[in-house]
Amino acid sequence: MALAGPPPFSTVLDLVGGALDPERKLVERRLGDMQGMYAAPVPDERLDERVYLVSEIPVPIDEGNLLSSTTTIEPGTVGGEYHMTKGHFHAKLDRAEIYLTLAGEGRLVLATEEGEHAVEPMGRGTVNYVPGGWAHRSVNVGHGPLVFFAVFPADAGYDYKTIEEQGFPVLIVERDGAPEVLPNPRYRG
Ligand code: F6R
Ligand code: ZN
Repeated sequence: MALAGPPPFSTVLDLVGGALDPERKLVERRLGDMQGMYAAPVPDERLDERVYLVSEIPVPIDEGNLLSSTTTIEPGTVGGEYHMTKGHFHAKLDRAEIYLTLAGEGRLVLATEEGEHAVEPMGRGTVNYVPGGWAHRSVNVGHGPLVFFAVFPADAGYDYKTIEEQGFPVLIVERDGAPEVLPNPRYRG
């Protein structure tokens, strides 16, 4: 049988800060990349601000391989909404995922195509199970960076468009210094 995987290899994950050594593939998201995802517009002077960084351990995109990555979301808010990832369904909808939080405090917002939703806690040591069919977005509700390590099937792929068009059913906003879950008035599920 032909093997689709790479030869065995290893990476060191900093269990405190999340950095990968060696660092192989970095994706940076700035507030300018998130225009239209927050309820409020991103002010012009904040467009260059980095919201999150994804450092990936790349493998060939074949069924049977596993991708993994560290995501670091900086603390902060946009119009009262906490900093967050874009969020996505997997292009292969049934592909599941595991998140392990290394640092910070967050909320994992999940939603199905039918509009069912869930909000799960994220904190050091939390292992979140993201079932297939659930879109997922992580939100930093703490005062420091939210750092988590993700493992998922390499052929899962990303569907960002559905979330860009529909949004998530709920928003995570800061109220009196604490997170609150509010219905998203712009949700189009
Ligand atoms: C991969 C996954 C995470 C996210 C990362 C950034 O399936 O869920 O590695 O890709 O946290 O979030 P997005 O991709 O939504 O910008
Ligand atoms: Zn995912």
